[in-house]
Amino acid sequence: MRKNIVAGNWKMNTTLQEGVALAKDVNAALEGVQPKCDVIICVPFTHLASVNAVIDANKLGLGAENCADHASGAYTGEISAAMVASTGAKYVILGHSERRQYYGETSETLKEKVALAFENGLTPIFCIGEVLEERENGTFFDVVKEQIESALFHLSAEDFGRIILAYEPVWAIGTGKTATDDQAQEMHAFIRGVIADKYGKEVADNTSILYGGSCKPTNAAALFAKPDVDGGLIGGAALKADSFMGIVTAF
Ligand code: PGA
Repeated sequence: MRKNIVAGNWKMNTTLQEGVALAKDVNAALEGVQPKCDVIICVPFTHLASVNAVIDANKLGLGAENCADHASGAYTGEISAAMVASTGAKYVILGHSERRQYYGETSETLKEKVALAFENGLTPIFCIGEVLEERENGTFFDVVKEQIESALFHLSAEDFGRIILAYEPVWAIGTGKTATDDQAQEMHAFIRGVIADKYGKEVADNTSILYGGSCKPTNAAALFAKPDVDGGLIGGAALKADSFMGIVTAF
């Protein structure tokens, strides 16, 4: 069956020293705790190797926040999936709305990134979600379906089964405006139906679908109690060990 997962997305926050300290705090907070979910932190590229050295991989997974859409070569400033994997990281966030919005990522580039992540043994945490206008004009189901179809539905069922999905309504990210637990459940159930139509019920039932967008210790339990919400992708609240742990222990 699918896993429950709580993943932190640190975004462009913390210096190397602050990030290593935060990772140590999260790792220490997990000592002697048996969370009912897998716990992952996705950190800036510059922090990956150092963070990997101070965490217990059996308790805390490590991921990057992006990777390049090319394997190697003359792409100044880019970081490849192979480079990410060589740090010890096991996950990579792909298609985050901030990457789509500010760095022009499209389904075409994301297809390449997903392929390179797989080639290098990384598990993609693949983000989808509508903007406010699409929520308000009622096209949000179509938008999310199209994001999944265009970037992922060329995959074999086996490869699709290795993806973690994160539904992140863009209007809820960093705004303090969380989707209600019913809105999250409605969309997660819809997404699972879209997957079932393409790959069958078993693949759909085994896919972890995380919710992201102003998830906090105060609202996580209600969100995670919904049958199709399998955890969270956590931005702001992942930057302090105690608030992140408040979400981890909400299961
Ligand atoms: P937030 O970010 O928790 O700060 O809203 C979530 C995300 O963008 O992954």
